[in-house]
Amino acid sequence: MEEQFTAAVVTVSDRSFRGERPDGSGPVVKELLEGAGYRVVRVEIVPDEQREIEGVLTALADKEDVALVATTGGTGFAPRDVTPEATIAVCQRLAPGIPEAMRQASLAITSRAMLSRAAAGIRGRTLIVNLPGSPKAARENLEAVLPALGHGLAMLRGGPADCAGTAKPV
Ligand code: MTE
Repeated sequence: MEEQFTAAVVTVSDRSFRGERPDGSGPVVKELLEGAGYRVVRVEIVPDEQREIEGVLTALADKEDVALVATTGGTGFAPRDVTPEATIAVCQRLAPGIPEAMRQASLAITSRAMLSRAAAGIRGRTLIVNLPGSPKAARENLEAVLPALGHGLAMLRGGPADCAGTAKPV
């Protein structure tokens, strides 16, 4: 990635929020983002409450102007899995190709990949991407899309975004 973008990691988990389970996936996502050249400026843990998830996503986009917000957890079928709903509620434009690519890559690993309802979208100058909650699944999903995200952020934030010229698809 030529330009260094800021990023935030939001772990969505009732149990991690209450301190009943260590946050396994947040550190994995942070490490992957830093390895790809992102400057991780915020790490948050929130419960599986749509209003609270919306609140933290909105603050990271509107107040902190973070370029990329990666959430982990709350994308499955459990009654309290509402991360995609919170994400869709705060985004002005959706980016369906990102979760499509994550699920396509993940289906080669496990058929359970279809059970992730992850969404991705844009609020202002911020791209929000949902990842599943297990450290393994979060890693596999993020690795599938990370090489393309920098070009999207360059377009979103007014950087060099000539698809034909500067793009280096992986
Ligand atoms: N994707 C990959 N690459 N690897 C996985 O192990 N687990 C799946 C799916 N996506 C998985 C995956 C499972 S079992 C579930 S239930 C969903 O992600 C949703 O996970 P979440 O509820 O923790 O967000």
